[in-house]
Amino acid sequence: MKHFINLKDISPKNLRKILIDAKKRKNLRKKLSTLEVDKGAPLKGKLLIQMFEKSSLRTRLSFYLAIKQLGGSTLTLRPDELHLSKGDESIKDTAKILSTFGNAFMLRTDSDEKLKEFKRYLSIPVINSLSPLEHPCQILSDIFTIEEIKKKPISKLNITWIGDSNNVLYSLIAASIKFSFKLNIGCPKNYQPNKKILSYIKNNKNKVSVYYDPKKAAMGADVIFSDKVISLNDKVNKKKKLSYFKRFKITQKLMKIAKRDAIFLHCLPRGTEVDDIVFKSKQSKVWQQALNRVHVQKSILLYCFGKLR
Ligand code: CP
Ligand code: NVA
Repeated sequence: MKHFINLKDISPKNLRKILIDAKKRKNLRKKLSTLEVDKGAPLKGKLLIQMFEKSSLRTRLSFYLAIKQLGGSTLTLRPDELHLSKGDESIKDTAKILSTFGNAFMLRTDSDEKLKEFKRYLSIPVINSLSPLEHPCQILSDIFTIEEIKKKPISKLNITWIGDSNNVLYSLIAASIKFSFKLNIGCPKNYQPNKKILSYIKNNKNKVSVYYDPKKAAMGADVIFSDKVISLNDKVNKKKKLSYFKRFKITQKLMKIAKRDAIFLHCLPRGTEVDDIVFKSKQSKVWQQALNRVHVQKSILLYCFGKLR
């Protein structure tokens, strides 16, 4: 049994194994419809319990399909209906029950501490489906999408992130170290990655560069990533924060600074950080990116269950 909480904690070998399995499975499903089960139904009889303490559309749907296609099933808990959220039951006891009834637990939460505590008390795998510090399923899936489109290992590509220093970027930074790819970050000076992340980058070969000018960050990029300036439950002065990011909007002009065949990715939902024209352009691969979440999360589940081929 393995957890999937932070990319930092998973070996490059295992991350690559997940991607290889996802590619094989996606190819094998070409003629199958949405709810048809993969040959061998590797997770037959298994129950994935999901809980979202924050909103979700893609993650909810993609995990639902992922476990179904592997022959298992899922149940989504509403945190407001649990004793835990009211302070009437401990994480320890909740975890004991989850482990008694279910076979894996997926959590989207506002607290990385909570994930750690669940990990401590669960005897089933826990999957982080977004926390303040990481969105590991998203980024592993995005690497799959990039390699699928570019037909090259990500280590041979220049990746650019233009936007806030948030959970998705932190997973991308961890991935850049695990998969050894060049990452340029373009952000306002006062929104650069925090000191802990900057020292993590320094201590791990440092292929990451931070620019306070979006044009410098976009130069020579094969992929340009962006994300909402205001993340879920972001308790900031929204107007003020958005004003700092005005220069960091993804426009056609900015896309032209990247390579001619550069692609645009965004985990969604979007805000005003990308021009509609770029979002709807041929360079934008956001729908393929969203759909691939199903394929990669299937292999993440198999990794957690110790069933990766
Ligand atoms: N990208 C992503 O995680 O989307 P949801 O918030 O809709 O799950
Ligand atoms: N950074 C965003 C990602 C949403 C999928 C957030 O945390 O809200």
